[in-house]
Amino acid sequence: MPAKEIAPKHIAAPLLAWYDRSHRRLPWRAPPGANAADPYRVWLSEIMLQQTTVAAVIPYFEHFTTRWPTVEALAAAEDGDVLAAWAGLGYYARARNLLACARAVAEGHGGHFPSTEEALLGLPGIGAYTAAAITAIAFGERAVVVDGNVERVVARLFAVEEPLPSAKPALRTLTDTITPTARAGDFAQAMMDLGATVCRPRSPDCLVCPIADSCDAARRGIADLLPKKAQKAPRPVRYANVYVLRDRGEILLVRRPPRGLLGGMLGLPMSEIADAPMADNTHPGAPALTRWSRGEGRVTHVFTHFELHLTVFSGDLSGITKPAGDWRAADESAARDLPTLFRKALDFAACVDDF
Ligand code: ADE
Repeated sequence: MPAKEIAPKHIAAPLLAWYDRSHRRLPWRAPPGANAADPYRVWLSEIMLQQTTVAAVIPYFEHFTTRWPTVEALAAAEDGDVLAAWAGLGYYARARNLLACARAVAEGHGGHFPSTEEALLGLPGIGAYTAAAITAIAFGERAVVVDGNVERVVARLFAVEEPLPSAKPALRTLTDTITPTARAGDFAQAMMDLGATVCRPRSPDCLVCPIADSCDAARRGIADLLPKKAQKAPRPVRYANVYVLRDRGEILLVRRPPRGLLGGMLGLPMSEIADAPMADNTHPGAPALTRWSRGEGRVTHVFTHFELHLTVFSGDLSGITKPAGDWRAADESAARDLPTLFRKALDFAACVDDF
């Protein structure tokens, strides 16, 4: 723990003044000072933002809130429609939890999100970070909101040299010491914006930082070296085959089993995932007995816990009985509802097969 004490007001006041001038205009946000925002929009944005960048989330957020403007509307949606609208955002368990949570709020809470961290934590898919973020941003109540951006800002502010992830509890405690009671949501989002635009991972712009005067790392000239990260074990590599089966301008898609990787999503027929590549003449998981031609090379997709290398096989039905499934026109529209992994495989097949 660093020796230096930083009074909350020395951080909150200049940071909030900077946020009033420089905040990012984002579609789920209330204007600075409003002290509350629509809990549905805040919740939806926070779940989406766990997945990817602000820029990538915006079109998904706009699409979801236009199509399902309230939590009740989302709760009443068909599972398949929501999963299809989520396609491309990744980590599909989140989309299923999103629906479960919308239904729990609609059915168990009269369509209103609860306003305490404790009650929010009881909802599907809401963990400590999301509960704190909703409490502060949607309800204006004090909560300690710590995401990756906040961890970086705080590690630098207090020059925490302990590496992540073991430094997480200390960083949370330090964030608690600088979190004000007033304008809790603005403070949380100001820390996020500062981390994203000024206190950036590689090239922090300490010259324009509103709290550089209080920053131990800036004073010592080591901001760009923090936070330190413990070396990660390399991601294991796994292998699978996918099959692009064509029949007169259509390709076969299948609904994946509800549990497991990309559960419930539409996809290309795929083998089980294995620790080593499969021999080219065995076709586990192939949707038909036909002559399969193998694309040169592999498609790679990175999941949180492993890297998947896909071998892509293409084949034509040429007279054999059409297997059951979701046959789609073999153009860009087929790819639209698919997780990124399968979009990549389709692009790859289109390149190698000229269709
Ligand atoms: N990342 C996660 N939540 C965010 C928010 N509300 N504003 C900006 N970036 C975020």
